[in-house]
Amino acid sequence: MGYQAADNRYENMKYRRTGKSGLLLPEISLGLWHNFGDKDSKSTQKAILRRAFDLGVTHFDLANNYGPSAGSAEKNFGVHLARDFAAYRDELIISTKAGYNMWAGPYGEWGSRKYLLSSLDQSLQRMGLDYVDIFYSHRYDPNTPLEETMGALATAVHSGKALYAGVSNYDAQQTSAAKKILESKGVPLLINQPRYSMFDRTAEASLFDTLGLEGIGSIVFSPLAQGLLTNRYLSGSVPKNSRAAKNHFLKPTEISAEYLEHAKALNEIAAGRGQSLSQLALSWVLRQPTVTSALIGASSVKQLEQNLATLSSPKLSLEELKLIEPHAIHGLVLKR
Ligand SMILES: NC(=O)c1ccc[n+]([C@@H]2O[C@H](COP(=O)([O-])OP(=O)(O)OC[C@H]3O[C@@H](n4cnc5c(N)ncnc54)[C@H](OP(=O)(O)O)[C@@H]3O)[C@@H](O)[C@H]2O)c1
Repeated sequence: MGYQAADNRYENMKYRRTGKSGLLLPEISLGLWHNFGDKDSKSTQKAILRRAFDLGVTHFDLANNYGPSAGSAEKNFGVHLARDFAAYRDELIISTKAGYNMWAGPYGEWGSRKYLLSSLDQSLQRMGLDYVDIFYSHRYDPNTPLEETMGALATAVHSGKALYAGVSNYDAQQTSAAKKILESKGVPLLINQPRYSMFDRTAEASLFDTLGLEGIGSIVFSPLAQGLLTNRYLSGSVPKNSRAAKNHFLKPTEISAEYLEHAKALNEIAAGRGQSLSQLALSWVLRQPTVTSALIGASSVKQLEQNLATLSSPKLSLEELKLIEPHAIHGLVLKR
């Protein structure tokens, strides 16, 4: 059956301005790091993407290496895009990144001009696109001059292969330096993509302040701590089809007694607000005024719908934030 997007798709989603740019992003965006690889069900992928767009999610985030195998998420996304979303390309913000290991040899990772621009061409080819909306340097490269890495992003924008430039996993100082170089080349730094959740509060130290001052947006990844801030593991066991069971990025050992104590306490606070734990976790990251969008993953339509329903909840009160604070423990779980 051909896909026809829901007529009411813009009725309930909220959009925030990305820093001082003209670009609005949905408060919740969908990432394809997991669940869109070779072995994942194509019909579930199709259903998740369609439902997301029907509910106003206009932004899909990818990277060259998402899968597994690396590149397969972009390839699969390209198939869904061509079949379902070709008519809606101008309603979509599609991002990709380069920075982590992608191919053999000295030019397959980090921040050289050679790697970034070759990788962007490969990503466009895999997705069947002429351009992406945002192209990111996926990580800061301490061994390549920042001038070169930012020069590659500027070339991507000037050539029309990307509309905007972004950085991910850059700290406050690196972000300010990147912005300065990009601006000297006539390209604004649109956005930073840091990890941020109740269990990883690194961005609060100085990054958010810097982004606010510099007028740069932020889209925060793993706001559900890869599922730890959901009901997935609250019973203390690891469900067979969960990320902790399937994937080395989240280890069963993270379901510790200490984790369970805090996750259960947070779950009770959520229940007191009529929310699920995942909804509380999303309300919490979205309380930050410098956060443009919370970048979630979902392995089912049900998860996606539950997460998007967060946006109809009331804002967290000062009283609720105080209750949450002792349980929003930075570093409680492994980083990645
Ligand atoms: N820039 C970077 O370096 C970087 C790094 C990581 C991620 N990212 C981006 O951020 C995106 C999101 O990352 P993430 O997948 O780690 O985000 P997340 O939202 O913290 O975790 C998503 C996972 O949590 C579980 N989940 C989600 N909603 C649920 C619900 N309502 N109830 C129960 N379980 C639920 C699912 O895992 P199950 O499989 O267990 O169902 C889902 O795959 C990625 O796709 C990628 O685009 C970027």
